[in-house]
Amino acid sequence: MSKKIIIAIDGFSSCGKSTLAKALAKELSYVFIDTGAMYRAVALYFMRHSIPFDDIIAIEKAIQSIKLHFVFNEGTGKSDMYLNDENVEAAIREMKVSQKVSEVAAIPVVRDFAVAQQQAMGLEKGIVMDGRDIGTVVFPNAELKLFVTADPLVRAKRRFIELQATQPSITMEEVAENLSHRDLMDSTREHSPLKQAEDALVLDNTDLNQEEQFNIALNWAKERIMA
Ligand code: DC
Repeated sequence: MSKKIIIAIDGFSSCGKSTLAKALAKELSYVFIDTGAMYRAVALYFMRHSIPFDDIIAIEKAIQSIKLHFVFNEGTGKSDMYLNDENVEAAIREMKVSQKVSEVAAIPVVRDFAVAQQQAMGLEKGIVMDGRDIGTVVFPNAELKLFVTADPLVRAKRRFIELQATQPSITMEEVAENLSHRDLMDSTREHSPLKQAEDALVLDNTDLNQEEQFNIALNWAKERIMA
């Protein structure tokens, strides 16, 4: 039997990390975990319960009432995010959550809560995890670390097309603005900011299609699985 590894995928918003992670997990029969979904679910909970993002006491209390888990969805080929047994997969992708999630993801208590669960999910390896701090904080010893990047305009266009399907009133300006806001927040926050791990391999997919990107990453993964 071949060795199981951990594949950590980090990068800016809307770089195609999830698409790549999902394809790699399918090919290798690994578990795919979209950690952004966890921060989105926590943000949704805080918004629904009007928890002020600067009230640490209220946040610590609220966290104790949050249960997160993933359930594999055969239809989409990826796992849906459940918040306290409710499928919130659609709700967490709405723009109102996207506009708040970076603030919530910057709260240390929230990160500690999410990271502990992510590390537990990787105990048996055979996992592809995407996020912002996977190669630097969650799995600093991951066998393969990818840092995915793409031109900001290309990213905004891709995201706009994707969101239009479910949110037809959305504008390109809104999407571009939200991406640059999140990139700035995610890379400048104090607690585990988005940054490239020293031993990460950079994958710039500006001029690559999904298949080309997948083949490059799969080769890197196979080299490590065989090593
Ligand atoms: O990947 P995404 O756009 O769904 O992530 C949502 C937000 O959560 C984004 O602003 C960055 C943050 N995030 C994070 O800080 N750390 C992670 N491991 C994953 C996401």
